Amino acid sequence: MDKPTYTPITKRHIEKSTSSLAQKISIKNELRKISSETLQNEILRGLSAKQKYISSKFFYDRRGSELFEWITKLPEYYPTKTEKSILKEVGSKLFAPLQKIDLVELGSGDCSKISLVLDAIPLLNLKSLIYRPVDFSASAVNGATQLLNKRYPNLKIEGLVADFTQHLDSLPNGQPRVICFFGSTIGNFTPKQAQNLLSQIADKMKTGDQLIMGVDIVKDIPTIEAAYNDSQRITEAFNKNILNVVNKTIESDFSLINFKHRAFFNQEHERIEMHLVAKNDIAVKSNLSGQVIRMNAGETIHTENSYKYTENKIKELAYNSQLSVKDIFYDKNKWFALVQLVK
Ligand code: SAH
Ligand code: AVI
Repeated sequence: MDKPTYTPITKRHIEKSTSSLAQKISIKNELRKISSETLQNEILRGLSAKQKYISSKFFYDRRGSELFEWITKLPEYYPTKTEKSILKEVGSKLFAPLQKIDLVELGSGDCSKISLVLDAIPLLNLKSLIYRPVDFSASAVNGATQLLNKRYPNLKIEGLVADFTQHLDSLPNGQPRVICFFGSTIGNFTPKQAQNLLSQIADKMKTGDQLIMGVDIVKDIPTIEAAYNDSQRITEAFNKNILNVVNKTIESDFSLINFKHRAFFNQEHERIEMHLVAKNDIAVKSNLSGQVIRMNAGETIHTENSYKYTENKIKELAYNSQLSVKDIFYDKNKWFALVQLVK
């Protein structure tokens, strides 16, 4: 998502990576098939709504992915470290026996979590796997693929730059699959969207396939709110960067300094909401559409939901998506869950 055309990995780059690394790695880009018009319309539709919104998938251009990686290392952002502690604890049990499978990772981001999975798999088994990272961010898939190839030269990697809500069919279905969906990215979807997405994933699964999903759990509000209001203001920079992506995509000139970052826990919906609050009255023109976007001082653009789950809600989501919960692993504080789902 680094350019409005969504083709940030150049042909030259792919050829170079595949040829010099003996065909161990390759990257396919499905986003080329999405016209820039579709993405522009999606953004313009959100900015014309009564409560303005921008889909959180637009956070992740190169800069956004870097800022997210930074967030994961902040003292206040507990989800990443907590999920990693669970992966370290149960990694061998869940992943060591895997052989001859496609190890798919949805919203793969950087490769730090899958590295914990791969470290738990003996070399002989590792050689028989294909790792398939799927992410909207071409820079993330590209970076992770290169790094993992250096770290695990025996592992075959076939990256997919794609929208996992639309392009699951692009994944080959010859081999059994273990699908990893870490980071509580499922929490960035409304319950209805989450159920649709899991049902789509379940549709593509065969008996014996597994979905291993990370889910953030409801906990005390100050802990949750601090994770989205860090003292170094990296989350603020991440939130505001979405306007840079909008500016590139619809050819507008939103000025980041005209907005404030707001993140709070909505108790009714059990979700963090992130907004950008206009500091003054604003009128911004999209040079592509000619449309003028107007905001009054204090009005907000809703940029993200991050739902927090209870065990009952996890079970309900699984049940409604035709998946069975085989096991749920928690960290010592029960702040985060790693859910093992089967068809
Ligand atoms: N799994 C990683 C990254 C989480 S950040 C971790 O746990 O740290 C969320 C990731 O999902 C980003 O890299 C973002 O680009 C990707 N993403 C969000 N919506 C997506 C979509 N609809 N299709 C594909 N990737 C998406
Ligand atoms: C990727 N996703 C699960 C993160 C979250 O916590 O909702 C994105 C994020 N937004 C702000 N900080 C991190």
